[in-house]
Formats: sequence, C-alpha cells, structure tokens
Amino acid sequence: MRSARMSSLTRIGRRVVRRLPSLSARQAAALCGAGVLCAGVAAAALTGHPRVATALLGLLAGVTLALLLVVLRRLAGVQKAGLAAQRDLRTTVEEMQRRLVAAVERERLTAGDRHLELAEAIARVKQVADRKAGSAQVLGLPREFEATVQLFQGFVPRAPMPSSGDWALNPTDLLELLHLIRIRQPRLVLELGSGTSSVWIAYALEQSGGRLISLDHDAEFARRTRAVLAAHGLTEVAEVRDAPLTPASIDGRDYPWYDPETLADLHDIDFVLIDGPPAAIGADARFPALHMIEKRLADRATLIFDDAGRKDEQAALAAWTERYEGLTREGEILGRHAVLAFARPPAMAAAHG
Ligand SMILES: C[S@@+](CC[C@H](N)C(=O)[O-])C[C@H]1O[C@@H](n2cnc3c(N)ncnc32)[C@H](O)[C@@H]1O
Repeated sequence: MRSARMSSLTRIGRRVVRRLPSLSARQAAALCGAGVLCAGVAAAALTGHPRVATALLGLLAGVTLALLLVVLRRLAGVQKAGLAAQRDLRTTVEEMQRRLVAAVERERLTAGDRHLELAEAIARVKQVADRKAGSAQVLGLPREFEATVQLFQGFVPRAPMPSSGDWALNPTDLLELLHLIRIRQPRLVLELGSGTSSVWIAYALEQSGGRLISLDHDAEFARRTRAVLAAHGLTEVAEVRDAPLTPASIDGRDYPWYDPETLADLHDIDFVLIDGPPAAIGADARFPALHMIEKRLADRATLIFDDAGRKDEQAALAAWTERYEGLTREGEILGRHAVLAFARPPAMAAAHG
C-alpha cells in the first residue's frame, strides 16, 4: 500500500519534472516562490518557530488563493473568447450558407432561362424544318422530278425547253395534259394563257396531228411564246394570238377577259387549257371562260382548268357545273388542275350543229 502510494507520487513528480522546461517565466517564478514558502514553513516548523511556520502557511494559502482567482479569471476570459469565436463562426457559416443558397438559386434561374431559350430555339428550328419538309412535300419534288423525266422521254425537243412550274404548268400537270392529248387526239386545242405549256402541247399535237391556238392578253408574253415556238419549229402547229382584255358582260357584271374577236373564227374546239387570264388582273378572272367559249366547243370536249384549288377557281367550277348541263368533273383535282368533260346535251347539239 505504501509502496503503491510512493510509486504514484513518483509518477506525479516525474510528470511535474517533465513539464518544468515548458513553464513560462511567471509560472516558474510562482513555482519557485511556492517552493521557497514551503521550505520556509518546513524550516520554521523544524526549528521550533510555530508562529513563523503558521504565518508562512497563511501566506502560502493566500498566494495559492490569489493564483487560483487569477487562473479562474483567465479561464472565464478564455471561455468568453471561445463563445465569441463560436458566435462569429456561426455568423460566418450562416452568411456563407445564405450566399450559397442565393448563388444556387441564381444558377437555377439562369439555367431555367437557358433551358427556356434552348427549348424556344429548338422549337423555332423544328418549325422551320417542318415548314421546309412540308413545302418539299407540297411541291412534291420527287413527283415533279419523275414527271420531268417522263416528259423528256416522250419528246425530244429541238431547242432548249422553257422552264415549267411557277407561272407555267408543273411537270406533273404537263404530263397529265399531254397524256390526255395523246389518248383523246384533239383536232383543235385552245389555250388561254400562253407560255411553256404552249410548246409542250405543240409537240404533242405535232405527233397526234392537231392544232393549237393560244391566247395571251400580254403582248410581250405572246411575243416570247411565239419566239420559243419558232425556235422549236412549231409555228405550223401552234399560233399565239394577242388577245387584249376587254369587258365581258355576264349576268350584269363586267369581267376583263380576252377579246372575243380573237376566237371568232374558231369552231369545234375539242380541248381547252384554261390557264389565264392571271388572277392578278382581278377577282374571278377565269370565270368568264365557259360562257365565252361554250358555243365554240365541239359537242364533246375536254377542259383542263389550272389552279383549280384556288378560291376563285373553286367558285367558277361550282358555278359552271351548275349552269352548264353536260359539264362534269373527271375525278379529283390532279396536281393543280381539274379535268372537266364537256358533252353538249343532244337537243342543244342538234341546234348547235
Ligand atoms: C399562268 S400564265 C400561263 C402559263 C402557261 N399556260 C404555261 O403553263 O406556261 C398566265 C399569263 O401570265 C403571263 N405570264 C406568263 N409567264 C409569266 C411570267 N413568268 N411572269 C409573269 N407573267 C407571266 C402570260 O401573259 C400568261 O398568259
């Protein structure tokens, strides 16, 4: 028991000795002071001076108490500083958290904006692509290409062909038109509105043995068509007539239409391409056609009505089929045109003949 107490005292002593080098000057001074006082108490007690020993003991206790108070004050200061540092740290962390949340929110909004912009851009691109794809579909490019190939397989032009499409008939419309001419073999074809179609029709009639009369309200376009027909050596087959627009009175309304004098010598027209006057001259530009040519048609005739899908042309179609007995639509609109069959009613045919 005694030896155990000894060894524990020895351990404490050793620890104190180990720490001695790390003491500050003030701590070393205080330790020395305490050692001196302890030595003084021991010396006074051993030399028979109990009062001195008691006084020194009291001094030692007072000094120890004062040191304890100093240490406690220091500890309280350290604790206060620790709490203040903790508060500062918390404030800093909270501020950083706020900034982080704000930054994340900003990024989120920016990302949202970017996402919207991107989505809008994609939608715009898609719209354009759809439109392009749609117009390619509407234009029916592959179909037009195939029709062009077939057109040039059917005829070997003797000069460069004027282009089709746009103002002129599309290749698909031309192909259908030439096919009808080939199988129906008309003797007299009337074309309202000259151009590229005049040349193709003339080639077809050159083979099948017929004649083309084409009217044009525009002297310059008439001249151009004549020049192309001449270049292709087709003037024997086709004739382009200058037909200025004059008022045609139908049911009390005046329509600008080709001068009827230009038709005066024509009878038994058995094939008609109605592709003029252009819509630009006014509303219902082509409506007068049937009224103006009906008495010049053969008892049976084929009428090709171009741009039949347009509003004015639809109205004209409806009015014609209602007014003219014996005028019927042949199937659906092909390409841009409608094919109409004209058959004069027998009673009227007898009177007409
Ligand atoms: C629809 S175009 C007739 C086109 C013709 N049937 C064809 O298929 O080639 C009707 C009228 O427009 C005029 N025209 C012809 N080509 C034109 C052009 N490229 N630009 C403006 N007008 C034109 C002519 O006076 C013509 O009679």
